[in-house]
Amino acid sequence: MPEKDKSVNTSELRGRLREARSVFVLTGAGVSAESGVPTFRGGGQAAVWKGMPFEVISSAEMVGRDLKLVWDWFDYRRGVLQTCRPNPAHDTLARWQTRFPRFTLATQNIDGLHAEAGSHGVLELHGNAWRARCLNCGSREDVRETDAGVRPPICRACGGLMRPDVVLFGEILPEDVWVEAAERAATSDVCFVVGTSAIVYPAAGLPVAAMRAGAFLVEVNPEETPLSEICDVTLRGAAGEVLPRLEF
Ligand code: APR
Repeated sequence: MPEKDKSVNTSELRGRLREARSVFVLTGAGVSAESGVPTFRGGGQAAVWKGMPFEVISSAEMVGRDLKLVWDWFDYRRGVLQTCRPNPAHDTLARWQTRFPRFTLATQNIDGLHAEAGSHGVLELHGNAWRARCLNCGSREDVRETDAGVRPPICRACGGLMRPDVVLFGEILPEDVWVEAAERAATSDVCFVVGTSAIVYPAAGLPVAAMRAGAFLVEVNPEETPLSEICDVTLRGAAGEVLPRLEF
């Protein structure tokens, strides 16, 4: 059977969006690329910092071995994020939250740009680079409010050491966030996968669960990913250009 040309099926997509009761969107680093946030695996090579692959520096093991160095890495990343503002992809998704009876935005990004664009209740699957979490009592603080000079920051609630409130390699996702994302994906009519290489699990499993539950699956990515073959529509382009075109 000839390969269905998934790029032209947008008329069916428009129909599905008109009828949709529940829309689920999963985003990855690509949705922030046009804001200047570097992707992890764009251009075929993984990010490296001070000669260390990011999987090493961004790991639970490194929190145990050198928490100060982990903070240096996230201070560097926040330095990059400082100058980045939401782009039309973030803005479009913020508008969609009132467009559908039920709308869920789950992101793998820790940059906070969806919230900055006005999205509420974003399911931050991998945490947030602007937050710290106490290793002792678990309380969370906004890094911008803690004393930048002290690294690792000290918890104001219990005096314990704080770590970045980000899911690191070797760690599981926050259970409450994951359970809600999985439930919403599996009960969606239309599921968008925007700007992710779809190789990091369990997040990459959400669109598969949505598809298996009958959702119409749409990928927005300039490049092919392992999910492309199971999608009903693949829109090859930059999210900041493609998503605004889906408003009608
Ligand atoms: N619009 C849409 N997609 C884009 C754009 C763009 N402007 N620019 C790049 N992309 C696509 C790339 O083609 C690639 O498929 O975004 C994807 C980015 O992939 P990754 O860098 O692997 O990022 P992501 O999928 O979010 O990584 C998942 O891995 O490193 C961990 O925790 C980290 O959350 C991250 C997770």
